[in-house]
Amino acid sequence: MDAADMGADLEKVLITEEEIQARLAELATEIWENYAGEPFLLVGILKGAVLVMADLMRAIPGSVPMDWMAVSSYGSGTKSSGVVRILKDLDTDITGRHVVIVEDIIDSGLTLSWIRANLESRGPKSVEICTLLRKPDAAKVAIDCRWVGFDIPNDFVVGYGLDFAEAYRNLRVVGTLAPHVYS
Ligand code: XMP
Ligand code: MG
Repeated sequence: MDAADMGADLEKVLITEEEIQARLAELATEIWENYAGEPFLLVGILKGAVLVMADLMRAIPGSVPMDWMAVSSYGSGTKSSGVVRILKDLDTDITGRHVVIVEDIIDSGLTLSWIRANLESRGPKSVEICTLLRKPDAAKVAIDCRWVGFDIPNDFVVGYGLDFAEAYRNLRVVGTLAPHVYS
């Protein structure tokens, strides 16, 4: 499947490559200025946040470390249950450090609220969240997210790290899948 074929599987492009990069540049500046020279750690959630992390951190105008966590959400099918298992934990001790969680999308919010509580239990100086996408109409728990790229409708989206059965993560845009892909 080449890039053109992937594009043909989309019903609609919701966010273009240019829009993603422009917004990430804004968020990078806001994050950098928020810490005013104090060190902070970016924590990406695998695998969806890989592309957000790569572009966000390169737009930050100073050196910043990163670490990664992988979690799996127990639940039926594609719906998040909020019961989370850590598949890969951080390599670093976050005690006394400022942490920014980097995510691709907040849907129900259940996964991220569990991750945040887990990280907060480790005694960090602070924990904030930066997500590229958020679905306000899908929220099941209120989640205080400091930096949001785009609020989007409650439809399944792929691209820019987001997958359908592991496909489409390498699309440069975010879009909805055409119905023929499901059948
Ligand atoms: P919750 O509901 O806990 O889920 O906020 C967050 C995780 O679910 C995945 N997710 C999606 N993946 N398109 C995707 O490719 C979507 O529209 C979508 N909505 C949720 C994603 O892994 C996210 O971290
Ligand atoms: Mg994810």
